[in-house]
Amino acid sequence: MGKLTTLAGAGVVLSICFLVGCSTGDDGVTRMIFAAGQDPSGATAALIEEYNASHPDVEVTFQVMPANTDTQHDAYVTYLSAQESSIDLYSLDVIWTAEFARAGWIRPVPAGLFDEQEFLSGPLESVMYEGTIYAVPWFTDAGLLYYRSDLLEKAGLPVPETWSEFTRACTSVADPAGIEGFIWQGAKYEGLVCNFLEVLWGRGGDISAETLRDSPERAVRDVESTIDFIRELIETGISPASVLTYKEEESRRLFTEGQVLFLRNWPYVWSIAEDEESSVKGTIGIAPLPHAEGETGYSTIGGWNIAVSAYSRHPEEAFEFLAFITGERSLSLRAIEGGYLPTRKSSYGDPDVLAANPHYSGFFDVFQNTRNRPRTPHYPIASDIIQENVHRALTGEFDSHAAAESIVTEMAAILSR
Ligand code: GLC
Repeated sequence: MGKLTTLAGAGVVLSICFLVGCSTGDDGVTRMIFAAGQDPSGATAALIEEYNASHPDVEVTFQVMPANTDTQHDAYVTYLSAQESSIDLYSLDVIWTAEFARAGWIRPVPAGLFDEQEFLSGPLESVMYEGTIYAVPWFTDAGLLYYRSDLLEKAGLPVPETWSEFTRACTSVADPAGIEGFIWQGAKYEGLVCNFLEVLWGRGGDISAETLRDSPERAVRDVESTIDFIRELIETGISPASVLTYKEEESRRLFTEGQVLFLRNWPYVWSIAEDEESSVKGTIGIAPLPHAEGETGYSTIGGWNIAVSAYSRHPEEAFEFLAFITGERSLSLRAIEGGYLPTRKSSYGDPDVLAANPHYSGFFDVFQNTRNRPRTPHYPIASDIIQENVHRALTGEFDSHAAAESIVTEMAAILSR
């Protein structure tokens, strides 16, 4: 079975099942669907093909979902609320485990399917809900600063660490070169939440349940000044106003086309930037995100896990495939072909993985300072509150103080539920 194109909507899934049959057919073949975001490297499709070839009684189809995590979330919620049985495995953003587990939509992973010791602790924590493991970690993510090393070197500038060094570099390097200074993900979606939290944390602020409970006024002040700070980046031309419509790929494209000095994005960008077709091949570097004077830069922890649907009619076969697709070789292949950061510790000692990803050593500094988004089964509501208020305040529709107050009050209510 070839790779299916991007599809959304339960109706579409149902019609695929009608066409190909998503159950055990008369031919004795068990047909399963694995829904996940696109893998431009082709590694996932190749692994599935290999699995199907070595399991004549099983046929797994890769259903490619929209790249936007929120769209993917909403499609899955539609399928699962309807107890849709045609999709057997879902790839889940690390922020969804609690919500999906609590709703009873995903199955606990049988003991012994994988050895917990073999996984990195952060990703492992993200598959647990109330002490039970509901998914297997697939790949991990952390926000990175990509920069044009050629342009900084030519200007004799070091890689900036503080925001003032950063904005100075934008003015003195990007402006004369006629390129954008700083591009990030500012559209109204989950990526904005990640970008916003990173700037907030790098200025010494946070919106953890404790801070919201114990020092709400301080939280309002920090959120407000962070919104103002980001708005200023746009007003002063460090970032173009169009950044408020960019998601991962729009921002990545501008960078790999050579139109940007600094980009905030996830690790997957590296292998595309170093590809033959990239205009910036051999001229880029990665670094921790900037921070305010006297503070530390933090990266949001992202990543994806894979779970078996509670409504799958083939849980045994689905878990067997899950063990394969999250196995050592599969994770290493995705790292080699697509730069996806493996969740298994052993991949970081694999010479082929390191040869294909010499920049992995640069991740070490970034991974020293990472933070999670709030962990709650009500995460989508929390995310909506941040998205709505931050985005509208950045476009000038909302006053930043009022937006900060709404975020703090509404988040406090959700996190105390
Ligand atoms: C990446 C991250 C994910 C995050 C998303 C935001 O896919 O892995 O955790 O929610 O980006 O756009």
